[in-house]
Amino acid sequence: MSQAAFTDSVHVRAPGKINLFLGVGERHDDGYHALATVFQAVSLYEDVIARPADDFSVEVFGVDDIGSVPLDDRNLAMRAAKLLAAAADYPGGVALEIRKSVPVAGGMGGGSADAAAALVACDALWGTGFSPSRLHDLAARLGADVPFVLHGGTAVGTGRGDQLSPALARGRFDWVLVPNDRGLSTPVVYGRLDALRDEEGALADEPSLSLDVPIPVLQALRSGDPVQLAAALENDLQPAAIYERPDLAETIARGVAAGALQGIVSGSGPTVALLCPDPEVARDVQYSLREVGYDPLHVHGPVPGARIIG
Ligand code: C5P
Repeated sequence: MSQAAFTDSVHVRAPGKINLFLGVGERHDDGYHALATVFQAVSLYEDVIARPADDFSVEVFGVDDIGSVPLDDRNLAMRAAKLLAAAADYPGGVALEIRKSVPVAGGMGGGSADAAAALVACDALWGTGFSPSRLHDLAARLGADVPFVLHGGTAVGTGRGDQLSPALARGRFDWVLVPNDRGLSTPVVYGRLDALRDEEGALADEPSLSLDVPIPVLQALRSGDPVQLAAALENDLQPAAIYERPDLAETIARGVAAGALQGIVSGSGPTVALLCPDPEVARDVQYSLREVGYDPLHVHGPVPGARIIG
């Protein structure tokens, strides 16, 4: 038992993520697609507070869209707590309070951040003392993005996106995020990509899609040069997300017209991430987009993964 087992509550903060590169390969029988991706954790956070309880419960506060967040076993934080309790033979429960800042169903891994934060919080609250690799294995069972959010920083993800290796990234990158009023379902966007590819016959012509992260992406990260990174941003899910939400193309174009170097749909969307050359330009882009009715956020990356606060 660690000291933390005797505390009244544990507060963990976990970041949202964007995908700087997202290459999607073939769909496997389990419904998941082979991925080669580069994640970056950004300074928009989910806070999870875990308190001792006999049963499992979750409360959610924060963003406008809270009504769409389930409070039962479909909630990823609740599933994370129950998975850890089962793995550790912990007989009690936990009351989880989630304070959201990451857009719901926004393609930024908000639910994954809740799950990663709940794992770290319950591990500390219950004095479970699991190793980082044991927590990583549990995280991978909860969702493809959960291991990355546990680790944070900048990393290459392969497999379902859950097999991680760190990517060397110098300096700080400034992003303006443009959330959308309505979330997008990740399975729907992957399904749309499959349908678009079937229509084009892309997979029939090219059965072994190359799934390496392109060297220019990794070079740009090493150099810390946002101009190089802007030229290397790529997301195979973007055409599918834009098919579902044609307005996203206009959001990207407006961001670039306002001074961003490049814009990309974050993960499965609909959040748009605009890469800016420096913090000043990011503030200008944020201001310009606000003037025309968007609700943009200025963040930076990379930042650390799920961490105990205070
Ligand atoms: O793992 P997670 O629950 O975040 O995935 C949500 C959905 O996204 C999956 O059910 C699947 O439809 C899709 N997905 C996929 N291939 C991946 C990751 C996610 O098809 N590598």
